[in-house]
Amino acid sequence: MSLSGRQVQVVAYPRGPVEERHFEVVEVPVEPVGPGQVLVRNTWTSVDPGLRLRLREAAPEGYFVAFPLHAAMDGIMTIGEVVESRAEGFAPGDTVWHARGWRDYAVVDASAVQLSGLGTLRVLDTSIAEPQWYLGVLGGMGLTAYAGLSVVGALKGGETVWVSAAAGAVGSLAVQIAKLHGNRVVASAGSDDKVRWLLDDLGVDAAFSYRAAPVGEGLAIAAPEGIDVYFDCVGSDHLEAALDAMNRDGRIAICGSVSEYESEPAGPRNLFLAVAKDLTIRGFRGSSNLDLLDQMQAELGAALADGRLQQRETVFDGLASAPKALIEMIAGRTTGKTLVHLTDVR
Ligand SMILES: NC(=O)c1ccc[n+]([C@@H]2O[C@H](COP(=O)([O-])OP(=O)(O)OC[C@H]3O[C@@H](n4cnc5c(N)ncnc54)[C@H](OP(=O)(O)O)[C@@H]3O)[C@@H](O)[C@H]2O)c1
Repeated sequence: MSLSGRQVQVVAYPRGPVEERHFEVVEVPVEPVGPGQVLVRNTWTSVDPGLRLRLREAAPEGYFVAFPLHAAMDGIMTIGEVVESRAEGFAPGDTVWHARGWRDYAVVDASAVQLSGLGTLRVLDTSIAEPQWYLGVLGGMGLTAYAGLSVVGALKGGETVWVSAAAGAVGSLAVQIAKLHGNRVVASAGSDDKVRWLLDDLGVDAAFSYRAAPVGEGLAIAAPEGIDVYFDCVGSDHLEAALDAMNRDGRIAICGSVSEYESEPAGPRNLFLAVAKDLTIRGFRGSSNLDLLDQMQAELGAALADGRLQQRETVFDGLASAPKALIEMIAGRTTGKTLVHLTDVR
C-alpha cells in the first residue's frame, strides 16, 4: 500500500498579520524513495520569525526563497527518524535533521545542500541531547547566537552587551553566551514575566520590558554607562535606541528585524551616529558561519551538560498547530525556542 502524509501549505499571502486562514493542511502521497534518498518520518519541526518574510510573492533579496502557494513549505529545519534509506551513511532508526519543513514524511536527497548547508541531511547524536535541541541550542539558534557575538568580537569579554528579543530562541542563548564570556549583559523583552525569567534564571545583569516605557528610556536605566555591543533581533525603535546608547568603537550585530516583518520599518533616524562614534554595524546569517557549528556544539553542549547554560521551549502539539505557533511567536506569546512536536504522524 502506498504511503501518504500531511503537509502544511500556504494558500494566501498575508497583507498584515499572519492568520491561520493563510494555511491549509493537505494530505498528499509520499513519493517513492530513489537512489541516494532517505525517507524520514518527522518528529519535531521549527517555527521561526524569518518564515514570515517568505510568506509573500518575493522574499527579501538574497534571503531564502518565498513559499509558493499550494505547495509544501520547504526550507524549515526539521527533525525525524529514518524509515527507509537508499543513501550511504543513513540507516533506519537514525535521528536526522533536514530542512524539508512542515510535513509528516519527507523524502530527502542525502547530498542536496539545504538552507545554505545548515539543513543538509545529517545524523544527530541523541545520546548527548534531546532530538529537538538540535532545532534550538545545538542547531541554528545556537549557531546564530554564537556566530553573531563572534563576528562583532563580543566573545572576548569585559564589555556591556545588549540583546533584544532576549527571551526568544536566539536571544535567550545570546544573553547566556555573552555572560559565559564575561560580559555585562542587558536584556529586553516584551513582558514582565520574560524580564523576570531573564533576571532570575538566565542571570542577566539588567533587564527591561520595551512595552513598559519607550525602549530608549529602559535602556538608559539598564545601561547608564552606555553599551559596547548590541545584538539586534528587532530593528526599528530598538536599533535607534542602540545607536543613541553606543559607546565609541561599539559594534552592532544585526541578527534580524522582527518588528519589521509585519509592519513598516520605523527607523533608525539617527544613523549618522555610526559615523560620529566610529561604530561597526554588521549583518550576518547563522548559516553563513557553518565553520563555527562544531565549536559551538562542543562549547554549548558542555555548558548544557554542567548546568551553566539553560534552554527553554514552547511546544505546540501536532502538525496542524504549526501556523498557530508562528502567529503566537510573532505576537510574543512564546518563550525560548518555539517548536511543533509531531505527535500525530500516522
Ligand atoms: N541571522 C540569522 O541567521 C537568524 C537566524 C535565526 C533568527 N534570526 C532572527 O533573530 C530574531 C529572533 O528569532 P528567534 O527565532 O529567536 O525568535 P523569537 O525571539 O523566539 O521570537 C520572536 C520574538 O520577537 C519579539 N517581537 C515580535 N515583535 C516585536 C516588536 N515589534 N518589537 C520587539 N520585539 C518583538 C517577540 O518577543 P517579545 O515578547 O519580547 O516581544 C517574539 O517572541 C528574529 O529577528 C529572526 O529573524 C536570524
